[in-house]
Amino acid sequence: MSKALEGFRILDMTHVQAGPTASQIMAWLGADVIKLEPPTGDVTRGQLRDVPNADSLYFTMLNCNKRSITVNMKNAAGKEVFIELVKKCDVVMENFGPGVIDRLGFPWEEVHRINPRVVMASIKGFGSSGPYADFKAYENVAQAMGGAMSTTGVPGGPPFVTGAQIGDTGTGLHFVIGILAALHHRNRTGRGQYVEVAMMDSVMNLCRVKFRDHQRIQRGPLGEYSVPTEGLDYAPRAGNDSGGGQLGNAIRCKPGGPNDYLYIVVQEHVWEALANRIAGEALVKNAKFATIGERRRHQDEMWALINDFAGNYTKQELMKMLNDLNVPCGPIMSTRDLVNDEHVRLREMIVELDHPQRGKWLNVGCPIKLSDSAADIERSPLLGEHTDEILREVLGYTDAQVAAMRQAGAFSKEPPKIAEYHPLRA
Ligand SMILES: CC(C)(COP(=O)(O)OP(=O)(O)OC[C@H]1O[C@@H](n2cnc3c(N)ncnc32)[C@H](O)[C@@H]1OP(=O)(O)O)[C@@H](O)C(=O)NCCC(=O)NCCS
Repeated sequence: MSKALEGFRILDMTHVQAGPTASQIMAWLGADVIKLEPPTGDVTRGQLRDVPNADSLYFTMLNCNKRSITVNMKNAAGKEVFIELVKKCDVVMENFGPGVIDRLGFPWEEVHRINPRVVMASIKGFGSSGPYADFKAYENVAQAMGGAMSTTGVPGGPPFVTGAQIGDTGTGLHFVIGILAALHHRNRTGRGQYVEVAMMDSVMNLCRVKFRDHQRIQRGPLGEYSVPTEGLDYAPRAGNDSGGGQLGNAIRCKPGGPNDYLYIVVQEHVWEALANRIAGEALVKNAKFATIGERRRHQDEMWALINDFAGNYTKQELMKMLNDLNVPCGPIMSTRDLVNDEHVRLREMIVELDHPQRGKWLNVGCPIKLSDSAADIERSPLLGEHTDEILREVLGYTDAQVAAMRQAGAFSKEPPKIAEYHPLRA
């Protein structure tokens, strides 16, 4: 079976999370992703290690299906290898801090000069223009500055980050979309272009409905919020409110553990069936809850009634009961629940892999399912595992050329002392 992105070769200089999640998806979809790492490796290889001397899960989970080459970009021979690779690739990806790629001597203008067909793509915290352009960023910095933290939590409490990595992986998804669009354009015009995705912009895009509420709130209080909104001129934190046109909340279930909750959306047209199941005809006929407007007004009371009822059931029992009534709902799943979930396993959203340093481990699968392009997930590469293979196969280097570049320090932190640099094309 052929792969959707087969034939595209990507020079992936990305590190940490935002970029690597993007190039991993492209690798799953069939692109040949060459992960170009400094001789010391992507810093995440050694971060949060659970097995001594083995690549961390932080690294292995974000870098599957890639080949690894180490290149010292601060060394003349290393730069030469980079230039040759740019000529052979369709995409160059990076997410270094502001100014790094310029200091290495390869801003977009230079990469474009080397290969006018190449698409170059950069993630920055805040983009290349504006007062924040020079600042570095991590996940939670982006969540803070993109509007996610100010709208997550409960009123009166501190702002919270979300567990979903919207700043990094969310940005990575935008990155993939931008790169694919630029490749599509390149295939029509023959011209590569520069793709820039800022983490703050991506988080704002993911907080779009909060800016809907920001504008609505200027005209008066928002009835669907369970928290007071009178007099506010910004979208507040609203706990577990649904954030949409239907009322929703997390309801406590039996036996009352930290994740024993079911998220329920009280869709307008399911109220009658739900009310009937909870308390029979009397609740169905209760004027206080007769319309969605009334239910909004009395939602604290409505949630209390539903909570009382839910306390008699586990989240799974209640999910089944409410799905039978066509009520949209979902149990709060812990990572343990998910790893053991039959549906998740069937959809290959948790996959078991083997790794020479760590043995068996689990990865989250590819969430994009293509009917004619299966994502076969392969383990992440060891540091520099494919250096020689890439030099020979992609660049056509001979053994002697590889050895000369090695001696010149192209692939190591410091050049080996014994030999002089023999430029390949001298
Ligand atoms: C993530 C981030 C904060 C990390 O900051 P950092 O650890 O200081 O790393 P930087 O990217 O700023 O710098 C990397 C350094 O490694 C060097 N380096 C990277 N690859 C190299 C290679 N192959 N060979 C030699 N040196 C290399 C760079 O030249 C740079 O050195 P310099 O500062 O002397 O120019 C920063 O990269 C950043 O803001 N990135 C953009 C936003 C982003 O993607 N953040 C989310 C990450 S999940």
